[in-house]
Amino acid sequence: MTTALQTPFDVAAIRRDFPILGRQVNGSPLIFLDSAASSQMPQVVIDRLVQYQTHEHANVHRGVHTLSQEATTAYEGVRRKVRELIGAKEDREIVFTRGTTEAINLVAHGYGRSFLGAGDEIILSALEHHANIVPWQMLCEDKGCVIRVIPMDDRGVLDMDAYRELLNERTKFVSVTHVSNALGTVNPVGEIIRLAHERGVPVLVDGAQAAPHMRVNVQELDADFYTFSGHKMCGPTGIGILYGKAELLEKMKPWQGGGDMILSVSFEKTTYNAIPHKFEAGTPPIAAAIALGAAIDYLQAIGLDAIAAYEHELLAYATERVGAIPGVTIIGTAPEKAAVLSFVIDGVHPHDIGTILDQEGIAVRAGHHCAQPVMKRMGVPATARASFAFYNTRAEVDALVAGISTVKEIFG
Ligand code: ALA
Repeated sequence: MTTALQTPFDVAAIRRDFPILGRQVNGSPLIFLDSAASSQMPQVVIDRLVQYQTHEHANVHRGVHTLSQEATTAYEGVRRKVRELIGAKEDREIVFTRGTTEAINLVAHGYGRSFLGAGDEIILSALEHHANIVPWQMLCEDKGCVIRVIPMDDRGVLDMDAYRELLNERTKFVSVTHVSNALGTVNPVGEIIRLAHERGVPVLVDGAQAAPHMRVNVQELDADFYTFSGHKMCGPTGIGILYGKAELLEKMKPWQGGGDMILSVSFEKTTYNAIPHKFEAGTPPIAAAIALGAAIDYLQAIGLDAIAAYEHELLAYATERVGAIPGVTIIGTAPEKAAVLSFVIDGVHPHDIGTILDQEGIAVRAGHHCAQPVMKRMGVPATARASFAFYNTRAEVDALVAGISTVKEIFG
């Protein structure tokens, strides 16, 4: 059943770049289908981490000595790479954070606490994961604002008519995911932003599951804020990005205080640094940022358009094959999806699916995927989720299908 992909894409060569893909798990070759949780790192990214830690490490923005200057140049160079990757206008619109979760919390604090108040409405979507729900709830508890939710249909597609109706004079912020981590739906974020902007409402787009899988241009989208994580795009954990339009970042209050985010400090008064440093208190994750730069180079060399096309075909193949297995239901059937295949098997708990597949070396995520409202809406307590990256193959999808058959036999 395995046939050559129509897209010219040397996946065998790509796989050789990822040392972990050569390992065995429970006596079988690893089949890693959990990249939505965290993707793997190619050797060039690992090498960049080791090179930095071995030969270049020093703190940034703090030393006149050579190592500190070199580390600062490398760290700031990554800011430029991120700007180019997402088409931002200026380097200073790129803030390094610990990840997407911290980036959203930063906006909820830095923007929300200053500009939202009692009775103001924040629109989220039914597809959000917890990181794009809880920070806004915490803000609402303190400030008395209210969350409104764009509903979705049984496929996992947002109801845009309902969104138009939700937008009103009390709407003061919109925060939506670009791609759902639990179902894979690609949301029409350009249209969501356009409609919000008609009312002068700023929009944050959570791009954690989009940036690794497609070309993103924040200026074309006209996003006010865009967030993503390094570890889901072949970089290390502990580094994420908040993009914000300069005029918005400038009027926001800093969230955390400490070194590097100040110009001067006395016991009477502190003057804050310029953006983006105003939002980067303390010693940042220097090594992780520099390795993220190597990951961006790696992804750019392959090409985000080529990655998107390859993964699109792989997901279509997986959807067809897994969807054809009797007793298996795919959860999330939106026409526009990226890289995620959530499913349930009649009479089998998703945790059992995950455990049995693991015995065959197949890594999937099982559970609510940090998106309990999505599970509730779809009428399931949990799903098994296979999530793909450009280093996965049709042969791995075939192995998943065989693994699902084994699960069904065991639970016969
Ligand atoms: N948000 C990550 C996931 O979807 C952790 O698995």
